[in-house]
Amino acid sequence: MKSLREYLSWAEEKCVAIGHFNISDSEGFKAVTETAHELNLPVIIGVSEGEREFIGLAEAVAMVKTIQNNNQPVFLNADHTYSIEKAKIAIDAGVDCIIIDAAEKSLEENTKLTKEIVDYAKSKNPKILVEGEIGFIGKSSNLLESLPEGVSVETQTDPKEALQFIKNTGIDLLAPSVGNVHGIVKTGNPKLNIERIKAIKDIVGIPLVLHGGSGITDDNFKKAIKAGIRIIHINTELRVAYKEGIREGLKSREVAPYKFLAEGVEEMKEVVKERLKLFNNL
Ligand code: 13P
Repeated sequence: MKSLREYLSWAEEKCVAIGHFNISDSEGFKAVTETAHELNLPVIIGVSEGEREFIGLAEAVAMVKTIQNNNQPVFLNADHTYSIEKAKIAIDAGVDCIIIDAAEKSLEENTKLTKEIVDYAKSKNPKILVEGEIGFIGKSSNLLESLPEGVSVETQTDPKEALQFIKNTGIDLLAPSVGNVHGIVKTGNPKLNIERIKAIKDIVGIPLVLHGGSGITDDNFKKAIKAGIRIIHINTELRVAYKEGIREGLKSREVAPYKFLAEGVEEMKEVVKERLKLFNNL
């Protein structure tokens, strides 16, 4: 099986993006991996600090390793990791990649924290990919009344600053702020700044990751991929689909979880399928 780094080169060559989907439990895992298998595509499973506390970090690693042993290209990402302590725990547990999220801190502090984790990660596992983030895009994969506080055009990533950040930290992947926000905004998510994506891509030379995928239009996604995005994160859309599906499932008199949760899995699969097809030009 190819490594995630190799799949990123493959995505660059084909001008597609690898889907990254967050999960909280085994139903989410099933929905994402079965759909990726049906479409014969690589996929990344994301678990944020809260999500991995719920599913269990060791359990998530074991589930992904089992599927990798069957030669299915599924990779595990320790999504949005805020502390050195939690980053080290995830790296030691055997994740394939990790994101250090210090975007809310000053550039100086962000650089220091990110570099410390890059050094630790590479000393433990040279194959692990470490992602850094500059430019704040909000924190909540939820249904939002308005744009998260602190997100504005001014907080979008500056290409030259991004290049310096990469040089100073040694990260493998960059998550920029380019008009994307976490969550679905009731009044509509902002449009992506495609010119900014192009400008960052032209200068940095490492794969770009688009967070906050929920609520972005198909047309905007296509343009972002063309401009250089190689991984796209989706969470809120899956959470909404799961909840709606379970609500339907609970209307029957079934008490077996694998029966009433099945509707939730089906709803999530629809989201994953549509997004993977779009991201991979299918
Ligand atoms: P959304 O909840 O907006 O899809 O963002 C997900 C994300 O970026 C997780 O890292």
